[in-house]
Amino acid sequence: MAPKFVVMISDVFSKPSKAMREAMANADVEDSMVLALEAKCAKLLGKEKALLVSSGTMGNLLCVMGHCQERGQEVLMGDKSHLYLSEQGHVAQLAGVFPRSVPTLKDGTHDLTTLAETISTSGVTGECRTKVICLENTHNRCGGKILPLDYLQKLYNLAQENDIKVHVDGARILNAAVGLGVPVSEITKFCDSVTFCLNKGIGAPFGSIVAGTESFIKRVRRCRKALGGEMRQLGMEAAAGLYGLDGAEETLQKDHFLAKKLVNGLKSLSSSVVTIEPEEDQTNLVFIKIDKEMSFITNLTERLMTTTEAEVKELGKEIRVGCKLWGKDIRFAICCNNNEEDIDDAIKKVCYVLRKFISEIIKD
Ligand SMILES: Cc1ncc(COP(=O)(O)O)c(C=O)c1O
Repeated sequence: MAPKFVVMISDVFSKPSKAMREAMANADVEDSMVLALEAKCAKLLGKEKALLVSSGTMGNLLCVMGHCQERGQEVLMGDKSHLYLSEQGHVAQLAGVFPRSVPTLKDGTHDLTTLAETISTSGVTGECRTKVICLENTHNRCGGKILPLDYLQKLYNLAQENDIKVHVDGARILNAAVGLGVPVSEITKFCDSVTFCLNKGIGAPFGSIVAGTESFIKRVRRCRKALGGEMRQLGMEAAAGLYGLDGAEETLQKDHFLAKKLVNGLKSLSSSVVTIEPEEDQTNLVFIKIDKEMSFITNLTERLMTTTEAEVKELGKEIRVGCKLWGKDIRFAICCNNNEEDIDDAIKKVCYVLRKFISEIIKD
């Protein structure tokens, strides 16, 4: 039987389907496709304008730059957010904006009282003035959690009372909408700007979208130029985005179903040292948390990429599973390229390897 490699390292590795490639091959190379994509996304997100940018990281930076027009202003962001932990502090490095972190609760939200106390609008000379709050939805490090709508509404009210903007890093905002069963605009009405990734859930090879008011996008467009992010003749890339958006709901529902299947399959492993998260309300991310030292966890993920003779005999085939380490958590990201058979194989493999590792733990 052919060896199997189940890739769940990141949904950013999602590959365009044959049909998407055909749509790209038949696309007009000129920028009319880009304009069509931007118009479609603005409508989807319920915003006046949208702009295609090269990545989610660039989109987040551009939005902070668009909101903070003076040096020394401040942006509040969660201490477990991608913006805070995984984007090289670009808002400080490149935009002269101070990133102040706020504690992230288990479900990806922030305590609103703490947030209100952190906001600085006093104008005291020594303080940075808070201009924008950044949220992440779905929340990657919190197990792909969807931020609740009533929380978003309360937070948006708080921001407006303080004349502060809200930006959403919505790399996976389409997953949030599909998970809640609401139009995306029902989520994004509680923010002033949003980014989402075309190159994740919907399988386009490239790009992210930024959306907001017309005047905001005008400023963002200027900043994009300054960062060297202006691009031309992207019709084929835009065609991939347009194609992916048309089938997004079905694709993401399938991904969420597979994530649930993976969680259910791995549940038997739960022990005093192993936790599978999230327990319910899955989007496309599944985490295994192991209460052991880092070297143990690294060895485990490396072991998932190899096979042994005894294992192949027991499992009936060679299975390798690609996943990603996020701190001490092991993350499995499901995307359009995964199917039910992949998940069945991944469950077999992960359970086999983890049981061996857990029996070692018990021996310790
Ligand atoms: C929540 C979140 N925001 C932003 C990004 C950055 O996207 P990109 O890799 O396109 O820069 C990622 C990437 O995985 C992400 O998970």
